[in-house]
Amino acid sequence: MSNNLPEPQTRTDTYKGTCLPLSLREWDALQAHHKSMSGTQMRDLFKDDPQRFEKFHVKNNGVLFDYSKHLITDETRTLLLDLAKAQNLEHMRDAMFNGAPINTTENRAVLHTALRGSLSPNVQVDGEHIQSFVTDLQKQMRTLSDDVRNDKTITDVVNIGIGGSDIGPHMVCEALHKYANGPHIHFVSNIDGDALLQILDGLEPNSTVFVVSSKTFTTLETIENAKAAKAWANGKSRFFAVTGNKQAAMDFGAREGDILPLPEWIGGRYSVWSGIGLSICFSLGFTHFEDFLKGAHAADEHFKTAPPEQNISILMGLLGVWYNNFFNFPAHGVLAYAKNLGHFPRYIRQIDMESNGKYVDHDGNFVQYATGPIIMGGIGTSAQHAFFQSLHQGTDIIPCDFIVPVTADHDLESHHTHLLTNALAQSQALMNGRDNPDDPHRHFSGNRPSSMILIDKLDPYHLGMLMALYEHKIFVQGIIWHINSFDQFGVELGKTLARDIVDMMEGTTSDAHLDASTKALIAYIKTHS
Ligand code: F6P
Repeated sequence: MSNNLPEPQTRTDTYKGTCLPLSLREWDALQAHHKSMSGTQMRDLFKDDPQRFEKFHVKNNGVLFDYSKHLITDETRTLLLDLAKAQNLEHMRDAMFNGAPINTTENRAVLHTALRGSLSPNVQVDGEHIQSFVTDLQKQMRTLSDDVRNDKTITDVVNIGIGGSDIGPHMVCEALHKYANGPHIHFVSNIDGDALLQILDGLEPNSTVFVVSSKTFTTLETIENAKAAKAWANGKSRFFAVTGNKQAAMDFGAREGDILPLPEWIGGRYSVWSGIGLSICFSLGFTHFEDFLKGAHAADEHFKTAPPEQNISILMGLLGVWYNNFFNFPAHGVLAYAKNLGHFPRYIRQIDMESNGKYVDHDGNFVQYATGPIIMGGIGTSAQHAFFQSLHQGTDIIPCDFIVPVTADHDLESHHTHLLTNALAQSQALMNGRDNPDDPHRHFSGNRPSSMILIDKLDPYHLGMLMALYEHKIFVQGIIWHINSFDQFGVELGKTLARDIVDMMEGTTSDAHLDASTKALIAYIKTHS
């Protein structure tokens, strides 16, 4: 960050628990340790310590997290865990599960974990018993889901929503499509008319139901798409709504019993476990949805109870801090070796970048250190033939997660063997590299870190678990960086300006005050459209 930003403060009073990381001696200790690690080669660490894999992996409930191919030693891990301790990570974690208003800028509790049965007893928010809310919600989800699935005249469901009201259920439906035995599920998010029309084309209003998912029920894309869908349906389709704005959903025309509540203590990008998962239930049935929640619950329990040095989410989060803040690596790669996890990297991109892409800390000061990384990624092996060149020989080092289901859900055994071996070979190549002193173009420097996350199977349970492990990783990083991971004010400005520009485009307000570029672009569009 630039030097004319405000001087950093020391310990905060704004949110009790975390403080400016730069003020911690644990941070300084890591900085000194980083210097002492200069020149360290991972391949030497393996040669010097036959126990390295044993030391740097964790197994839990059908997930193996191997973090031995990282630029770390025992001392690094100790120092990172010390930093987490100094930031009161365990206290803050418990504060989240107990319903404390850790979303400080909006004064909200953060309780998406309650939806998967991970709730401390008797938690109330604004006088509401959270457990009763969850029980009632899930009962309603089961009833609506059975209702639609038992109605054999319904062949298609269209989920209309954007951001967290789309990406989570979309990703899950695609990842678990082998478990689908209900109506076909379609997702519309973009305001681009092609997005809606391409889906409606070929559907019949009588056999289609819509789920309008929007926490606010004011999001431009969702409301415009919902209105267009309603006009297309011409009174022949049923519209469900998932929202915190019941009145707006009723005004839109949804029946009261078809509206699922979405309270403030569930953030949009953390809402797939809530009524936002209704489309998942329509597709897979509520029982599979419950398995999905159980997997996430297992990750919650692991996060809450595993010692920090064996805690997958804590370790994932701290490794990211190590690279972001001490090595200055700007990005993180999510590489899923499963075609059905096609949307997984973009799902992680949203929850990570919308949560931690922030330059202001809890005290309202501009941070003087890097926070959330750029998340990129793709699907193996296809991605190997696309951007892996840069992972191996690019000037930036991008630590990666390889996510690999160990067993396949199909009969093409040799395909799966190739898939697995490619993931192993890539992480090995990133680490070891290959010297080629005579030909720099064919030289691989190696020493590029990656984690291997093996899941037994891509099923509802393990998918839920994987997603929750990442949620908690992001939480851990927000704690270390002393930022609020649960607001998203950064998305507001563009939305406001778009509304103003609509008026200018329609000529109802003047564009005289605009910058020359935007003004000229509006003029060009007007004359060419
Ligand atoms: O664009 C930001 C955002 O607020 C996301 O966090 C949210 O998931 C999405 O928009 C959709 O908002 P809503 O559910 O209110 O339509």
